[in-house]
Amino acid sequence: MRHDHLISARQLSRADIESVLDHAATFDGDVTGGGRREDVLGLLFFEPSTRTKMSFDTAMKRLGGSTVDMGTVESSSVKKGESLADTVRVVAGYADALVLRHPSEGAAKLASEFVDVPVINAGDGAGQHPTQTLLDLYTIRESAGLDDLSIGVMGDLKYGRTVHSLAEALTNFDVTQHFVSPESLRLPRSVRYDLHESGAEVREHTELDGVLPELDVLYVTRIQRERFPDENEYRQIAGEYRIDAATLDVARDDLSVMHPLPRVDEIAPDVDETRHATYFEQAHNGVPVRMALLDIMLGGEGR
Ligand code: NCD
Repeated sequence: MRHDHLISARQLSRADIESVLDHAATFDGDVTGGGRREDVLGLLFFEPSTRTKMSFDTAMKRLGGSTVDMGTVESSSVKKGESLADTVRVVAGYADALVLRHPSEGAAKLASEFVDVPVINAGDGAGQHPTQTLLDLYTIRESAGLDDLSIGVMGDLKYGRTVHSLAEALTNFDVTQHFVSPESLRLPRSVRYDLHESGAEVREHTELDGVLPELDVLYVTRIQRERFPDENEYRQIAGEYRIDAATLDVARDDLSVMHPLPRVDEIAPDVDETRHATYFEQAHNGVPVRMALLDIMLGGEGR
C-alpha cells in the first residue's frame, strides 16, 4: 500500500485491504508485538469519539510510538477562531502523521493539501470513514470470509459515513449488498453511482423481513441525529429500523450482526446474548487493524 493519505475507501484496492488485514492478524491476540516504533501521531478530533480516538491512541502506543492530542474543540485554539488549515499545519510540525475527524465533508482532503505528513480520515461529516471500514472488513473476514457473501446494511444510509466507506470497499469482493432504509435515508446518489460503475450487486429495500433469512452479515447503523437539518424529521424515523432477539428468529444460524457503535436503540440489549452479536468484538478489532495501518503507512511492515 503506497498512499500518502487515507481519505476515502475508494482509494483501497483489494490488495491494499488484504495487506492491512493480514498484517493486523499478526497483532491480533498479541498487541504487544509491536513496540519498535518512535513515531508521534497527532489526534485532531473536532467531533465526539470514543472508539476511533482511543483505539488510534492505543494502537500508536502499542507500536512503541506516542500521541499528541488537540483535545476538544472547546479547549483548543479552534475556539479562538483558528482555521483548520492553520491547525493542521501547526500540528504537522509536532507529529509524523495526523488522524482527523471533522463535521465537514471534505475536511480530511482539504487538510491533506496543507501538510507533508500522512493524513488519515477518521470521519468527515457524512462523507467517509475508511479506517472503520478496514476493521469492519477484518471482522467480516473473521466470521464469514470476504467472498460469496450477502451483506445487509440497515439504518441511516444517507448520512452514515461508515456505510459509504464500507459499500465502496466491498466492491472489491464478490458480495451482494442489500441496503435497508426508509426512502428518505437511502444511499446518496454519489455512492449509488460509484457502486453502479464498479458493477457491484446491489439491492435496495425498505423492509428487513424479506431479505434477513439470506444474509451472512447484518450491519446495523445509528440514525445520525446530529446531521439532520430538522429534528422533527429525525423523530419520525428514529426507532423504525430496530432489531431485537425475536427479529433474528428467521435469520441464519451463522448470521453475524455488526454495528460500528455507538448504538442508541437500534439493537435491543437482548441481541447481545445471542450468537449473532459481533459488535463488541468488531470494536476490539480497531486496535490490531489500526496498528497494522499505522505500521504500513509510516513505513514498516508491508511496504
Ligand atoms: C461512527 C462514526 O463516527 O461515524 N462511529 C465510529 O467511529 N465507530 C458511527 C456513528 O457515529 O454512528
